[in-house]
Amino acid sequence: MSGSLLLAIESSCDDTSVALMSGLRDVCSWKISSQVALHSQFGGVVPEYAGRLHLNAVLPLLDQLFHDAGVSCPQDQIGAVAVTSGPGLIGSLLVGVMTAKALAQSWSVPLIGVNHLEGHLFAPLIEHKSLDFPYLGVIVSGGHSEIILAQRPGSYQRLAKTRDDAAGEAFDKVAKILGMGYPGGPYVEKCAANGNPKAYDFPRPSFEQSLDMSFSGLKTAVLNAVNKAKMKDQPLNPADLCASFQTAVADCLFDRVSRAVQQTGITQVALSGGVAANSFLRRRLGESDRWTLLAPSKAFCTDNAVMIGAAGWVAWSAGVFDDLTLTPNPNRELRHL
Ligand code: KG4
Ligand code: ZN
Repeated sequence: MSGSLLLAIESSCDDTSVALMSGLRDVCSWKISSQVALHSQFGGVVPEYAGRLHLNAVLPLLDQLFHDAGVSCPQDQIGAVAVTSGPGLIGSLLVGVMTAKALAQSWSVPLIGVNHLEGHLFAPLIEHKSLDFPYLGVIVSGGHSEIILAQRPGSYQRLAKTRDDAAGEAFDKVAKILGMGYPGGPYVEKCAANGNPKAYDFPRPSFEQSLDMSFSGLKTAVLNAVNKAKMKDQPLNPADLCASFQTAVADCLFDRVSRAVQQTGITQVALSGGVAANSFLRRRLGESDRWTLLAPSKAFCTDNAVMIGAAGWVAWSAGVFDDLTLTPNPNRELRHL
């Protein structure tokens, strides 16, 4: 007997997450175990610890998942296992991939290695029934800032990437400069709420004939502003700094989305990745009547297994599987046209 459910596992960075899906948009149950309490002590993810914590978390999390979903006989009820196979941290990816391989083999069901970025691209599809291919996927996370023309499942063209830091990385570094916690995005967003976005004229770099982005200079500009104030013994207003920084990031993304819409004529814009949880950014990108912005609820912006399950579901339906030699690839690229 072949089961009708798909099990998805995500462990590419510092969140262990598992999900059971009965359709592209049908989530039976999902779980997440965050490692933030440990990594925040170090101001960032420590890869060695991340792998070990995934190892501790994954099997108990699966037990909870099956219990909550009322799955008493997973080997009969689950018909495929999808897992993030890259990009990500190798020690973290290995735990998810080895777990998925062992389960797929013992249950004799197909194994699907999902690209983590493809998962983020699929996240807005889960809750937005109106979203359909082709669309522009804007992925803004801790490791990536990309605009992808998603023609159809498995067919992607990258229109823009960051040439240095990712947007989330810039949020994290600014938070560090200001002595805030990790991950920095939510701290910076909260602090920015009471600030003047025009207090600092931070750079908004752009490149000729390219939609590429750059956030490293912006981060340095924040650092310079902080150092300058310290040297002159002037008071520092973190709220103004955060608001000006956040606005510069949002302006940059607004500009690139605007140009991507103009170039492609595609007006559905699907925002995803951890930075997509930022309310200011969602409002800013939602302001234009030239495109429709579709963003996932915040839990599906940051890393989660449901988005991996959604991408895995489409692969399963299309009969696209991996075999048991599946190996994690920390630098895995999206398939481009
Ligand atoms: O997608 P994600 O969970 O992991 C990666 O694949 O990288 O993204 C994590 C990133 C971190 O850099 C974090 O600071 C950022 O997303 N982030 C935010 C917010 N919440 C998370 N950035 C800005 N505003 C937020 N509210
Ligand atoms: Zn991610």
